[in-house]
Amino acid sequence: MNRLKDKVAIITGAAGGQGKAEAKLFAQEGAKVIATDMNGEMLLKTVKEINDELGGESVIAVQHDIATEEEWAHVFAKTMEKFGKVDILVNNAGMPGKTHENVWDIDTTETMRIVSVNLVGTLLGIKTVMPEMIKNGKGSIINISSAAGLVGGISGGSVAYSATKAALQGITKEIAIDVAKKGIRVNTVFPGLVRTPIMDSFSKEVTERTLSKVPMGFPAEPIDLAYAVLFLASDESRFTTGADFIIDGGFTAQ
Ligand SMILES: NC(=O)c1ccc[n+]([C@@H]2O[C@H](COP(=O)([O-])OP(=O)(O)OC[C@H]3O[C@@H](n4cnc5c(N)ncnc54)[C@H](O)[C@@H]3O)[C@@H](O)[C@H]2O)c1
Repeated sequence: MNRLKDKVAIITGAAGGQGKAEAKLFAQEGAKVIATDMNGEMLLKTVKEINDELGGESVIAVQHDIATEEEWAHVFAKTMEKFGKVDILVNNAGMPGKTHENVWDIDTTETMRIVSVNLVGTLLGIKTVMPEMIKNGKGSIINISSAAGLVGGISGGSVAYSATKAALQGITKEIAIDVAKKGIRVNTVFPGLVRTPIMDSFSKEVTERTLSKVPMGFPAEPIDLAYAVLFLASDESRFTTGADFIIDGGFTAQ
């Protein structure tokens, strides 16, 4: 019940899927949560649902495009105004790419947007919270990548998605080493197939092909990822930094 007692967490992409499961689990474990998402309407519904179920106002909604630096400043200002500090950042929001028949046949505009969201958006989150975490001498940052950042053939035909998710591993390791002596930990989570709305963007064929290669034979539920993220957010993982957490039912073990 109290694994995150007195901690304040920012979770992006929390209107649904994994971010929603994390926001609820964090609140159940005693955290105050700033839940953000670009989809403001869905976010408000989700936050109300969580607060109604748990009782109280542990989760606050802030509409937010992670690719925009000014909007990160707004999220930070809201966090400080409401809760006075930030201990945890979960860089969970991410966007898929469209399926391209030839994976190299990219659309430049789409590619630049995926880079702005999945890669730059994650970096902007880290840039936003880091001075506060350094000031406090503690913090935990969790970057949500994808198994598509580790192996080929499962991005649904979007090389930009795979490339940006692979980049998150580099961002994690580089920053983890830089801030290791300042009490701040940075880790990457690599989900395999998870039953969330993003799965609907993959074609039926890609989903079935990927699922057929999952040794455990079923997709994860959002809560399966949320438990791993909870461990990394909590002090239980105090000796863990720069690490890869692969939660994929054995997919990349083959
Ligand atoms: N579901 C899977 O199979 C799977 C597999 C591997 C990795 N992932 C990754 O897990 C993370 C969570 O995805 P999910 O599975 O919960 O899917 P999801 O689609 O339910 O959640 C993604 C959320 O991010 C939000 N979002 C997208 N772009 C945004 C932006 N620019 N600013 C703010 N919010 C934005 C969306 O509105 C959505 O609510 C993503 O980074 C995704 O790439 C998912």
